[in-house]
Amino acid sequence: MSSPALPGREAAAAGAGAAPPAAPRYSGGAIALHWLHALLVLALIGIGLAMGEMPKGAERSAAIALHKSLGLLALALLLLRLGWRLRHRPPVDNRLGALERKLAGLGHRALYLLLLLTPLAGYLSSSFTPYPMRVFGIVIPKAGWPDEGWNALFNALHTGCAWTLIGLIALHLGAVVLHALSGRSVLGRMLPGRGRR
Ligand code: HEM
Ligand code: HEM
Repeated sequence: MSSPALPGREAAAAGAGAAPPAAPRYSGGAIALHWLHALLVLALIGIGLAMGEMPKGAERSAAIALHKSLGLLALALLLLRLGWRLRHRPPVDNRLGALERKLAGLGHRALYLLLLLTPLAGYLSSSFTPYPMRVFGIVIPKAGWPDEGWNALFNALHTGCAWTLIGLIALHLGAVVLHALSGRSVLGRMLPGRGRR
């Protein structure tokens, strides 16, 4: 008995050796925001770690000023991204099981949480110093006053959050590589191009 007729694409996929259907991709806006934010955060981690190795002086002060400006830019970008995300649900990847999708969702939520807490703690830490808060040279309001105790507390929180974020990003990259090795790459979902959205 012949099998029921399948529409064109499904029929092709059902054939022996046919490539599995492509996973739906994120929207152009989500992709642009992801890569802009990823570049910014990786640069912030690099500058933040390099700052610790620099001797006190003009170069270190310039690196700290750049780190603070880019860090506040990353916070603004995160708020924009969260606003976008609340209005646009990510496309469901039906190739993954329910548990895998749940774990990916939890990982992404944890990333968003740390992407919020890290710059907030940095801003609060710098708020409790005697120095003005500048974004690319422009003075902006601080949330505190010169106080070594509060500064040390938020400084420790900022460092703890930054290292937790580094760990989560490593897990994130590990998950992307594992999916590619298991033949269900998710990278294409986050790359610009034509095809299914
Ligand atoms: C997503 C945003 C941010 C990331 C990923 C980030 C990351 C880091 C990292 C990795 C370090 C080095 C930690 C260590 O030495 O172990 C650091 C240090 C620092 N960050 Fe950030 N940062 C961010 C935002 C900010 C913001 C918004 C400010 C302030 C406005 C800030 C102020 C500082 C300061 C003052 C230090 C030096 C701490 C010290 O060595 O005493 N950061 N940051
Ligand atoms: C540089 C290497 C990176 C690669 C290859 C990469 C790849 C990806 C891919 C493929 C996805 C989609 C996963 C899926 O649902 O199928 C994704 C989502 C995500 N990535 Fe990355 N990523 C990278 C770096 C980063 C960094 C540094 C951050 C932190 C700023 C980040 C934050 C996120 C978040 C929050 C999502 C969830 C998007 C959502 O569903 O709302 N990624 N990434």
